[in-house]
Amino acid sequence: MNKWQFDRHRRLRQSANLRAMVRETHLHVDDFIYPIFVIEGENVKQEIPSMPGIYQFSLDRLNEEVEEAVRLGIKSVIVFGIPVEKDEVGSQAYCEHGIVQQAIRQIKQTYPELVVIADTCLCEYTSHGHCGVVENEQVLNDPSLELLVKTAVSQAKAGADIIAPSNMMDGFVVAIRQGLDEAGFTHVPIMSYAVKYASAFYGPFRDAANSAPQFGDRKTYQMDPANRLEAFREAESDVREGADFIMVKPALAYLDIIRDMKNHFHLPIVAYNVSGEYAMVKAAAQNGWVNEKQIVMEMLMGMKRAGADLILTYFAKDVARWLQE
Ligand code: PBG
Repeated sequence: MNKWQFDRHRRLRQSANLRAMVRETHLHVDDFIYPIFVIEGENVKQEIPSMPGIYQFSLDRLNEEVEEAVRLGIKSVIVFGIPVEKDEVGSQAYCEHGIVQQAIRQIKQTYPELVVIADTCLCEYTSHGHCGVVENEQVLNDPSLELLVKTAVSQAKAGADIIAPSNMMDGFVVAIRQGLDEAGFTHVPIMSYAVKYASAFYGPFRDAANSAPQFGDRKTYQMDPANRLEAFREAESDVREGADFIMVKPALAYLDIIRDMKNHFHLPIVAYNVSGEYAMVKAAAQNGWVNEKQIVMEMLMGMKRAGADLILTYFAKDVARWLQE
């Protein structure tokens, strides 16, 4: 005992091996879901200016990217489609030969083991950029559900292993669950973007997917960043309606919500490390202001420590590489 009678926490920090032995949280390549943007056209591999290192791929270039992810040991990708033609009702979202349906078919054909997740939303496909049907500048809930069910079923038919609805209409889980079941897809899980905030952190994604709302914002369907209890209400509904995973989005500014969800629900919790979170780190790293690898690992570790079982991140390939070093 020392003369002041304090505790010696530093005992367990003396060496790298000792620190590794008492480490409470670990990142593993199995934790990550890698997002991929697929665009119509030929021979396209176009970098997204606000997301250095992330590209839009045409179908004929898509396998290069998937191949790399698979080679790095990544188990799952989520695909976002960017159609040429957009219309009022987002019909390319549920077209049998839509860009995302083709991409899913192609990926599953070449990499049958890879878990392919489909983002189920309309905003990339609608001319107004909203996630549902619009009438008099209002986003209508129930008519949107009909289209989202069609979208989910078309994605499952194309071979999607998981349906991930991100549109934030009320009832989307129960509607999609019923639609999938009736179409013979009882085995396809729903990864619900249950807790999705109306966030400024989605800016770069909207460049990538060309999906910014043409009028207004998403505040009548996405959540107010100030609210915590509302996250419980949203997640409770989705669990009751049949969700298999609960996603919290964005991640960095919502670590408390991730922890709340982990403590309260018994489904796998997914954190979406969104485009703006990626862009901020990239910009700072390119300026030499932060150490990219260290800062990314620390952020992702924070998400896991907060309770995320899975992390959807544009850094997935980088992390997979770093974990191999
Ligand atoms: C579709 C969707 C969005 C994101 C994922 N799915 C955009 C939005 O809600 O505006 C954002 C992801 C990101 O920022 O990385 N609704």
